[in-house]
Amino acid sequence: MKKLDGNLKHNIAVLISGRGSNLKSIIKQSLKKKTSYKVKVIISNNQKAKGLLIAKKMQIRNYCIDFTRSEKLGKMVLKVLKKNNIKLICLAGFMKILPEYFIKLYNGKIINIHPSLLPRYKGLNTHKRVILNNEKYTGCTIHYVNKFLDSGKIICQKKIRIAKKDTAKSIEKKVLKIEHKIYPKTIDKVLSSL
Ligand code: GRF
Repeated sequence: MKKLDGNLKHNIAVLISGRGSNLKSIIKQSLKKKTSYKVKVIISNNQKAKGLLIAKKMQIRNYCIDFTRSEKLGKMVLKVLKKNNIKLICLAGFMKILPEYFIKLYNGKIINIHPSLLPRYKGLNTHKRVILNNEKYTGCTIHYVNKFLDSGKIICQKKIRIAKKDTAKSIEKKVLKIEHKIYPKTIDKVLSSL
């Protein structure tokens, strides 16, 4: 990977809808010298997203954009991304489907983290479904975003064993801990390949 000094880090945008625990770990890691990226912009579709408070606290440029209006999205998001020279878009608990033209435009430059071992358990409530199906393993996956839900090429996947006493809540906690470790590392890896 190319060595980068503080001012030469790649700019990334993180898109969120809620809590923002992945955002927090991505930012925390970005502050280290060896990390190749800087979180330049945070975009939320939800004004009440807790992640926006993290953005404000860390004084990172943040925007709340109405993703229900595709036209508006196009103009605003593209303007923000261009203006801030964004190299990679990281979805972290972002609950909206991006329009197809947008995905085409940023082909290979949008990644997402999903709390299951894709291609299994796409969509919502993964931990509940995993428990209901008595699975022995679960985990999380980071993948490129394409026009189909949770279906793009897999970049990184980590597996954990489900214990008998595990509940959806306890699995969520275990999986999140792994997510926080692998997402920043994967961002570095993807950036080094661009
Ligand atoms: C994570 O479990 C992530 O895998 C999924 O949504 C959740 C977001 O959590 N896509 P947070 O907002 O980062 O805390």
